[in-house]
Amino acid sequence: MNSGALQDLGFDPRAMSGDEIVQHLDLRIGQVLEQIQHSEVWRAVTSADSPPELSREIVKEIYLEIVMYQPDVIEATIATIAQMPRSLPVELLDDMLHHQIEEFDHGEMALRDYVAMGGSEEYARNRPMSPSAFSIAAMWRMLCHSRDSFAYLGALYPFEGITPIITEKAKDALRGKGMQDETLSYVDFHSTEDKEHARMLRELIAKVADLYPEARERICYGLEYFLAIYPMPAWNAAMQRAMERHLKTAA
Ligand SMILES: [Fe+2]
Ligand SMILES: [Fe+2]
Repeated sequence: MNSGALQDLGFDPRAMSGDEIVQHLDLRIGQVLEQIQHSEVWRAVTSADSPPELSREIVKEIYLEIVMYQPDVIEATIATIAQMPRSLPVELLDDMLHHQIEEFDHGEMALRDYVAMGGSEEYARNRPMSPSAFSIAAMWRMLCHSRDSFAYLGALYPFEGITPIITEKAKDALRGKGMQDETLSYVDFHSTEDKEHARMLRELIAKVADLYPEARERICYGLEYFLAIYPMPAWNAAMQRAMERHLKTAA
């Protein structure tokens, strides 16, 4: 194994089974969940003593981040799936594409919640991409550009592995902050839908890693590539914008 890869990952995934690769991904997701729950943004959104307006503004800005990056993610992921080896069993390709079909309009879902919170659709659709949303879009486009299709599966794991847990943990707190049902469709939907997506992805990763030994390292890299820029940079950017507005209105 390349010594750089050993340094980046801290272990050699080449001899690991598909199930062992999945166990490793789950371990990393567990570490990230810990980090999230100790973060300033988590405290500001969920803690009983944070101002409800600030909490709502942060969630609104997180929706805006999703609106900004999601169309590029969909376009790049579908193209990256199309770069899978031609020997890939067609039913696995079907699962991958079917999953992205289910994700296709989730940027629009986030936009509807954003607008229900008082945000402007015109602004959200035409605003320049924030640096954090740009870096997320760029990571998915780079996987496609470098034809790193196995890494795609690992990179997807934080989206599907973190979202159902975080939305489940946050949704009651958000209602406690005065958020109405019509502003929580993205949160409510993902707290259940992504449990199934995570299950499907675990199965998919285990099968692909067993079938293609060369995929194991790339899957682990994909996870780390995405974790380097998601979720904290996007959520911190959302918090920053919300704080600026909150301080202005409080002044
Ligand atoms: Fe989604
Ligand atoms: Fe999903």
